[in-house]
Order: sequence, then structure tokens, then C-alpha cells
Amino acid sequence: MQKITTDISAAVKALNRDEVIGLPTETVYGLAGNALKSEVVSKIFAVKNRPFFDPLIVHIGEISQLSELVSAIDPQLQKLMNAFWPGPLTVLLPRTNKIPDLVTSGLPKVAVRMPAHPMALAVLRQLNFPLAAPSANPFGYVSPTSAVHVQDQLEDQLNVILDGGDCAVGVESTIVDCRNNIVHVLRLGGISIEEIEECLGEKVEVELSSSRPAAPGMLDQHYSPMKPLHLIENQNQIPATAGLYGVISFGANLTGPIQFELSESRDLIEAASRLFAGLRYMDQQPVQAIYISLLPEQELGRAMNDRIRRAVIKSKGI
Ligand code: TXA
Ligand code: MG
Repeated sequence: MQKITTDISAAVKALNRDEVIGLPTETVYGLAGNALKSEVVSKIFAVKNRPFFDPLIVHIGEISQLSELVSAIDPQLQKLMNAFWPGPLTVLLPRTNKIPDLVTSGLPKVAVRMPAHPMALAVLRQLNFPLAAPSANPFGYVSPTSAVHVQDQLEDQLNVILDGGDCAVGVESTIVDCRNNIVHVLRLGGISIEEIEECLGEKVEVELSSSRPAAPGMLDQHYSPMKPLHLIENQNQIPATAGLYGVISFGANLTGPIQFELSESRDLIEAASRLFAGLRYMDQQPVQAIYISLLPEQELGRAMNDRIRRAVIKSKGI
């Protein structure tokens, strides 16, 4: 059987049989299964080889689903949901007991988002349960932004990978929480801090914790390619002894024997949609090392820089 498919009803059937599938979203591909059944959720952890202390995002297709999943909605988060759903925004809300403990790792709040990808929405709207879905990569590796990326790593464990093309956003959703009436950004992602602050008309706290196990699996080491990734400021920092190396460039700021260009016109939205594909591309090339520079620290550049810094730490490319 062909695993990669555009057949939405095949995906719906598999999910109704309690299977876990590859699901396209506008951010990255997810590894999706029934969020309300512990045994399905534990399959997701097993396929991903993910530690149980790292909770999952619950995806919904309709606002009306919220009433059975959460017990209250902070007014500021409501405002953000109105503005950015469906889209790359995840909100933390107090959960009801419909949500298995495994989904939230026992935390009192559940992470919820309504994805904007038309295929994800179509699947969600044909199911009578929400979907728990982490990014469809083995734990710690680069997130997938195409169906082939999912197939490359998880094919043996999945029967259905729904093909929705390349992800338009390309970095994961922004995660927000509200405590004492203050909105906290726990993970930078597809909706920028600038957009959030403009919508709220107030400043937010940015709290990209990596030490609190309860919070957003924002472990220091994440999103890493296999090859050593080095962060440099300019071309001159590439050593003459580098051998066959690759560069991931932005507006041709770096050049090398093997090059992956994020965006010739230095467009941050285009660059974000290509960052993970660039890291995966380099892993498949015969390069000994990968060089990259930080992007402008604004809008989606911030989310990309966050991913790049973590990837560098893990791959010991410093
Ligand atoms: O864009 C996305 O959000 C993608 C697509 C598939 O929707 N999903 C995704 O899931 O990035 P994942 O599992 O790779 O990352 C979810 C993050 C984790 O860092 C996790 O720790 C955090 O969300 N998270 C989930 N539930 C949480 C909770 N109840 N409290 C705090 N953090 C939570
Ligand atoms: Mg992930």
C-alpha cells in the first residue's frame, strides 16, 4: 500500500481505527492520533521515542470542541485565538478531565491549537475527537516540513502519511500561556511577538525556559541535524581546513561548495518555510560540517534564531 497519500478519507478511517498518522499542518507535519484515548496517545510517544514528561498539543477543527476540553478561557488568550485561529498559535488553558494525563504530562493546563492547513482542518472536522500531534520527527531531530521528510524517518511505523505539500510556515506554532493576566510566550513560532503585542495592545513576557521540565519541551538541545552545525558571523570564520562543508545562507550572506539558500530576497517568511528543509538537505550531502549565521532578530527571524541556537548546542558545532 502507498503510505503517502492525498486521500483524506483514508486518513480519517485510520484515525477512527485508533492508528497514528502523518498529518500536514501549515507549520510542520504532525504525528496525529486520538487525543482522548490514552492508548493511542502512548503510541504517539512510542513512535516518536519521546519522553513522557514532554506534553502534547491537542488540535481541534471547531471552536465548539473547546467546551469539553477546557474549563475556562482567559480574555487575552480569547483575543489571540479570535485573531490567529486557524493558524500557528497554541494556547495553554485549564483542562477538563476528558483529557488523559498522558497528553499534558499531568499538568493542569492543556495546549490547544486550530491548525490552518485545509487538509488538517478537513480531517479534524470529519472526526468526533480532537487530535494530539507532536511534530512527526524522532525526538530531538529536525521537524518535518514535507510528507517525504516524515516517510524518511517514520515510514516503518505508519500506514498513512497524508501529503499536504510543503508547509507554508515551516516553524512550529507559537505557544502562549496567561498567568495573573499577563501573557507569556513559551515558544517562539509562526506568529511573531510583534503580531501578538499589536493584537493585545500590551507587552508580553517572553519566557523560553529550558530548565523547567514542565514547560514547552524547549530543551536546550533540540531540532538538531546529525552533522556538526556551526554558528558564524561571516564567511571569514569558516576555517581553511573545513574540508567539504555546506552553508545555509540568507540573501547569499555565506557561500560554500554546497549551499542552501533560505531566501535570496531576504524574506523572513520564505526563509522560515525553508529552514528545516535546509538542515535536512545538509544531512544528506557528503559535507563534514554545516555553517549558518543568525537571521535578523525580528518577526519570524526570532523563531528561526531560537531553533538555530538550540540546533548548534546539540550538534556541538560551537
Ligand atoms: O506547530 C506545532 O505546534 C506542531 C504541529 C504539528 O501542530 N506541533 C508541535 O508539537 O510542535 P511538539 O510536540 O513538537 O511541540 C509541542 C510543545 C512541546 O515543547 C511541549 O513541551 C509544549 O508544546 N507543550 C505541550 N503541552 C503543554 C502544556 N500543557 N504545558 C506546557 N507546554 C506544553
Ligand atoms: Mg517538536
